[in-house]
Amino acid sequence: MEIKLASNYGFCFGVKRAIKIAEDYKNSATMGPLIHNQDEINRLKNDFNVGLYTNLSDVKENDTVIIRTHGIPKNDLKNLRKLNAKVINATCPFVTTPQQIVKKMSSEGYSIVIFGDADHPEVKGVQSYGEDQDDVHIILEPSDLEKISFKNNKIATVAQTTKKKENYLEIVNALILKNKEVRVFNTICDATFENQDAARELSKEVDIMIVIGGKNSSNTKQLHSICLENCPNSYLIENETELENSWFLNKNLCGVTAGASTPDWIIQQVVDKIESFN
Ligand code: F3S
Repeated sequence: MEIKLASNYGFCFGVKRAIKIAEDYKNSATMGPLIHNQDEINRLKNDFNVGLYTNLSDVKENDTVIIRTHGIPKNDLKNLRKLNAKVINATCPFVTTPQQIVKKMSSEGYSIVIFGDADHPEVKGVQSYGEDQDDVHIILEPSDLEKISFKNNKIATVAQTTKKKENYLEIVNALILKNKEVRVFNTICDATFENQDAARELSKEVDIMIVIGGKNSSNTKQLHSICLENCPNSYLIENETELENSWFLNKNLCGVTAGASTPDWIIQQVVDKIESFN
């Protein structure tokens, strides 16, 4: 069986940058998981003694605390600084952008619409930058707009970086139909798209597709759903231990892709294991 890697896969710019920062600050701790990949978080702990704080109450004076790629809510950042912690910001610049847009547009009197998952840390962080929290609305589909009454007659909208552009356009269309002024900011990250386009193409030609990444990672889950559209034998795994020999029986071509938080060493282990089934 032949194995073919997608033309784009794995770590994006923001994740590479965050990991480099964490490696540079040994004996520190990240506020929340740095990226959505437990194996990489374990490696940072074992090799660089980079720990994990889940609560602000874990932080002690003079600790070095790294802000993760998804960012954290504005007040958490403020409170960290009050605790006299040394704060190192590893928020991806593509996440900082919607935070700053929400801050600026809400200060200019715009109602804010965020297209994203309300529970996602990135979205919570972006939301926190709105000046009037009652007028920052997180939605997932156009019908969600029907329940909202905006405080202003001008709307600004941003999207979670990992969302699909097609779905964002549906929301933008619905907003324009009902509002006179809509400022649309395309905050969707191209890195996600490059991986998605490559996965889409590859999944059209293979018999089986392996998607590697954290099961709680939104961009990995999207890669998986894109692959499933073209290749019903698409599997989402976190590492090589989840591979099953039976998946590969009578298959000639296996495609491999990986989410933006998946390190190369995990991808290599998966490829090696698939090769061993040959
Ligand atoms: Fe940043 Fe895009 Fe990666 S938002 S963390 S470069 S997927």
